[in-house]
Amino acid sequence: MGEVDLKQEIARLKRERDAVILAHNYQLPEVQDVADFIGDSLALSQKAASTDAKVIVFCGVHFMAETASIICPDKRVLIPDLEAGCSLASTITAEQLKAWKNEHPDAVTVCYINTSADVKAECDYCCTSSNAVKVVKSIPEDRPVLFLPDMFLGAYVAEVTRRKNMYIWPGECHVHAGIRPSLVLEMLKTYRDAEFLIHPECGCTTSMVYYFGNGNGCAVNNNSNGNGNGHGNGHDNGISCNVKFLSTEGMMRYARQSSARRLIVATEVGILYRMKKENPEKEFIPISSDAVCKYMKMITLEKVYRSLRDMVYEVKVQQDTARRARRAIERMLAIN
Ligand code: 13P
Ligand code: SF4
Repeated sequence: MGEVDLKQEIARLKRERDAVILAHNYQLPEVQDVADFIGDSLALSQKAASTDAKVIVFCGVHFMAETASIICPDKRVLIPDLEAGCSLASTITAEQLKAWKNEHPDAVTVCYINTSADVKAECDYCCTSSNAVKVVKSIPEDRPVLFLPDMFLGAYVAEVTRRKNMYIWPGECHVHAGIRPSLVLEMLKTYRDAEFLIHPECGCTTSMVYYFGNGNGCAVNNNSNGNGNGHGNGHDNGISCNVKFLSTEGMMRYARQSSARRLIVATEVGILYRMKKENPEKEFIPISSDAVCKYMKMITLEKVYRSLRDMVYEVKVQQDTARRARRAIERMLAIN
């Protein structure tokens, strides 16, 4: 079947099944085209929570579909390919977390949404890149915090909140960890007039925060949902510091409101399709064309079609695990 036919069949099956298609910002262009809603991890969980549809086809990675299933236990949540995992979520198991918690019995545990349901079930709070700062700020200052599993996001949150009692799990995402400080500095020198949008999972985040947040008098944007202000706009040695740290949806919002003609995007390349489509008058340049998440790209149009046709692959979380994980997610949604 060609792309046009597949799109028509998907639309027909969607009506027949009373389904909604949710897609993450990193999905392939043709998959984004058939989605009812595109967003970051937080927006997609909120959408899953509010939809009336009976079936959710989740075009993203496994932990995202699991989160939707935890929030909506009465709905059928499908992922078009069960192999679509996440290298970051795989850096910690529930057993490792339990051992870590035993070393810090009075700590509050905050997990990034990029974790399995078993790990979420062991945590007090969940967070996404757009609300991690807010979630950590809501925890009394005298309580130690265990933050997991992303070390770059963790270091960013610790810096913005100025929290000294945060312990951070040494996990990383292979796509974002590859976006190194040297690469960003090179691009900053090349594109002096551009604004730089950086996902806090990037391997460059710690040094960029230090460089622009502490080193050169440029304040760091401490609200990664894109509504914040206080980001830097200064210069040092000819290097612009028009640098913002944002979640993927924060980047989308920022791209719309920015008066810059050119923006450099430091995250997975899939987001550029939507950015260009929504802002045809602006130029968007990926920080690296190698920043590709192979797991996100496993979801193809053909698999979305099969998913709806055969009602596969259902993502279900064991009841007690889901109940405990839901607590952490609901605490996050309440703060938001
Ligand atoms: P966002 O929540 O910013 O979309 O990030 C999710 C993710 O997996 C980033 O790699
Ligand atoms: Fe996971 Fe990284 Fe892919 Fe995001 S980009 S889904 S963190 S592997």
